[in-house]
Amino acid sequence: MVDDILRTPGAVRDAERWTAHNYHPLPVVISSAEGAWLTDVDGRRYLDCLAGYSALNFGHRHPQLIAAAHAQLDRLTLTSRAFIHDQFADFCRELAELCGKDLVLPMNTGAEAVETGIKVARKWGYQVKGVAPGQANIVVAEGNFHGRTTTIVSFSTDEDARADFGPYTPGFTVVPYGDLDALTAAIDENTVAVLLEPIQGEQGVVVPPEGYLPGVRQVCTERDVLFIADEIQSGLGRTGATFACDHEGVVPDMYLLGKALGGGIVPVSAVAANADVLGVLKPGQHGSTFGGNPLACAVAVEVVRLLATGEFQRRSAELGERLRAGLEGLVGKGLVGVRVRGLWAGLDIDPALMSGREACERLAARGVLAKDTHGSTIRLAPPLVITEEEIDLAVTALAEVLAG
Ligand SMILES: Cc1ncc(COP(=O)(O)O)c(C=O)c1O
Repeated sequence: MVDDILRTPGAVRDAERWTAHNYHPLPVVISSAEGAWLTDVDGRRYLDCLAGYSALNFGHRHPQLIAAAHAQLDRLTLTSRAFIHDQFADFCRELAELCGKDLVLPMNTGAEAVETGIKVARKWGYQVKGVAPGQANIVVAEGNFHGRTTTIVSFSTDEDARADFGPYTPGFTVVPYGDLDALTAAIDENTVAVLLEPIQGEQGVVVPPEGYLPGVRQVCTERDVLFIADEIQSGLGRTGATFACDHEGVVPDMYLLGKALGGGIVPVSAVAANADVLGVLKPGQHGSTFGGNPLACAVAVEVVRLLATGEFQRRSAELGERLRAGLEGLVGKGLVGVRVRGLWAGLDIDPALMSGREACERLAARGVLAKDTHGSTIRLAPPLVITEEEIDLAVTALAEVLAG
């Protein structure tokens, strides 16, 4: 096909013309997808190794999720929380059971789940812990990524995310990630919560040292502080377990969930915690018009059922070993570092060779889509339905890109 009859260049131009440039997408224009594969407007196929930043853990258009969405579209899509609908209780109960918690509070985006967690922790601090009015503090980690609201970017250490969005919300103390002594030292009588990603995804799939998460759990228990685990990207099967915290046998006081909970169909997020924590919220104190809507609940309850089988966690753990073996074989051949947990990998490319962006562009030319983060790091997060052969295909494409 000659260039001037390809649809991609015009579609890229139009997208750039009509939108704010708050993203820098690869110049591919997708028109359909199934499983782990995407097809663009010119009929080219790509293996999806990003999976919507883990929002597509079950692949594109998983039949069980699509069927649930279709059936719900034909019956009821929105009530608001002014009324109760018939999908609501099942979703909340099954998700609470998956999390081993008493209660669930559904929202829409990940950032809203984080905001919810912050509000609940503060209220719990004042009403249960007895923190003096206006003094509540939350300990967070350097390199965090919890979303884009004004409060959340207030405690970001990424200048792109934070600069020029002040004035910033007070009440957060930032400590180095993975340093238990620093975290312990930052806790005082006003500390209501520690908010952490058990693995820092946006930072490049950074796994904390073994023993860190159990240490955080212990110090939170000892000092009467809530441990809030942001599992929005790491949770729901991505790492080879239901939650990344499971790898170290850690149970936080609050799970923040999102992304994959919506099955790649609708935005669904949630906070799961016990009644002594989530019970601090009373009518009128928090909510969202769309949170827990019928379509969201109908899809998300099927997501929970897929996870309840354990199949996706198993696949992620087993196939993750194949991915690890393939990627570790490239260390010294263009990669200078690799971190893998389940089907989630952070790859550090030798910066002398090329940037992460350049590597992703070259991967795209070979039919593999991935996303760079922080200069020379690439994150791989393929749908958990990916096969062994497809993993090999991605690793081979990467090897070719690195070999120039
Ligand atoms: C760990 C984590 N928390 C929160 C968010 C924010 O989620 P959303 O983009 O749905 O607001 C993200 C998104 O990447 C994330 O990775």
